[in-house]
Amino acid sequence: MTEQSAQPDPAEPVALTEPPSDKGVSRRRFFGTAAGTAVAGALVGAGGTAAALSAETRPTVATAAGDVDIDLNQAVPYFDQPHQAGISTTPQRHAVYATFTLADAATKTDLQTLLARWTAAIGQLTQGKTIGQVEPVRPDAVGGDTGEAYGLFPASLTVTVGLGPGVFTDRFGLASFRPKALAELPRMPGDFLEPGLTGGDLSVQACADDPQVAYHAVHNLARMAATVAQTHWMVLGFGRASAGPGQQTPRNLMGFKDGTRNVTGDAEFDRFVWTDDGDWFAGGTYQIARKIRITMETWDVDRISDQQNVFGRTKDEGAPLGAKAEHDTPDFAATDGDGKPVISPYSHMAMAAPENNNGTKILRRAYNYTDGLNSQGLLDAGLMFIAYMNDPQHFVDLQSKLGKFDLLNEYIRHIGSAVFAIPPAPKTGSYLAQALFE
Ligand code: HEM
Repeated sequence: MTEQSAQPDPAEPVALTEPPSDKGVSRRRFFGTAAGTAVAGALVGAGGTAAALSAETRPTVATAAGDVDIDLNQAVPYFDQPHQAGISTTPQRHAVYATFTLADAATKTDLQTLLARWTAAIGQLTQGKTIGQVEPVRPDAVGGDTGEAYGLFPASLTVTVGLGPGVFTDRFGLASFRPKALAELPRMPGDFLEPGLTGGDLSVQACADDPQVAYHAVHNLARMAATVAQTHWMVLGFGRASAGPGQQTPRNLMGFKDGTRNVTGDAEFDRFVWTDDGDWFAGGTYQIARKIRITMETWDVDRISDQQNVFGRTKDEGAPLGAKAEHDTPDFAATDGDGKPVISPYSHMAMAAPENNNGTKILRRAYNYTDGLNSQGLLDAGLMFIAYMNDPQHFVDLQSKLGKFDLLNEYIRHIGSAVFAIPPAPKTGSYLAQALFE
């Protein structure tokens, strides 16, 4: 289930119908050879993914005491997977999330070409290769790879692309392909959405264990989108707020472990995440993105006992109130000596738990973010909440309830929002969502 563990095929760059300029070489190999003298064409097919480096050159880092070491030289396969990477992939440490708006003048062919070019580029980038021109020192070179990831490891980069409701319209002749559960999200309680942080026709979630590698991917895809699509909103995430197998549960910026109870294991992914809504969409899923600001200064002056009451968990261990260990099952029926519930029914955990929501689960794959300071000099930070599920209505039902009753509401504001259909991964020699154009 965790694609991260698999090594990529270190063979040729994938042959795609287009564009030829998206072939590349290993970023590290590029520097290990005669940088600046190489000719792009001669390097095509040279292979040499970063996975070919010797063990001594592989740096590893640990995220937390006792956590698994991260091998920056890992590359995650992109083509020929049942699902796009970046969903069930063990969460990497950093993320860049961006949405794009298709230009008014963009045609169906423009969209098709963009998806084909992005696919080719993502296939290279995730394997630690450059795209396009590989001659950064040639003064007259224009276009090609922007260069800031030269010499860097693949860092388990995944790039997950989504298609918004605006793609499946008569404008592109694609209305009949709309995955059946894809619709703009309704207005929900607790929404303070800012237009500049809402919606988009395409989404790109780039996750990597090196922030520069993640940024480089979005930077290059944005450049390739040129006049066809414009970046709409973008969030830089760090300190993943969800745990994968073997990872310790990380903490959000409120200081609580986040990601303790999540979708895990193939059976749960099959049940709650992957969907076959429409033939072409089999193996796809839906992505909900919410930029949620945390009023840090207010939270920081709250007593720990109240903070614990808000989440229904202890701050240090992350255990459900009334229990000892983080992964103990919460007892929502337990009462104290005065007959009061030990876990408030209005706590975030009680509100969101599957026990209290008809058994429904969503996969949370969130990241902390900061935008520095706001205009009043206050900390401007929060959670870039990204979730995957087989029906966005599950999020709508959950958030409609949380937005009204969750004790957490006093400290957060939903300021950004978008929903996307996430097609299955492309096959070798094809491109993302190719079935829409055949
Ligand atoms: C800034 C916003 C948020 C913060 C800081 C936050 C934090 C947390 C924390 C600390 C937990 C308990 C540990 C865990 O099981 O992961 C949790 C659980 C959970 N949260 Fe959030 N959360 C936020 C927003 C949301 C939103 C918007 C939703 C969905 C509408 C959501 C859904 C859930 C779910 C489903 C659980 C698991 C509950 C369980 O099964 O026990 N969270 N969250």
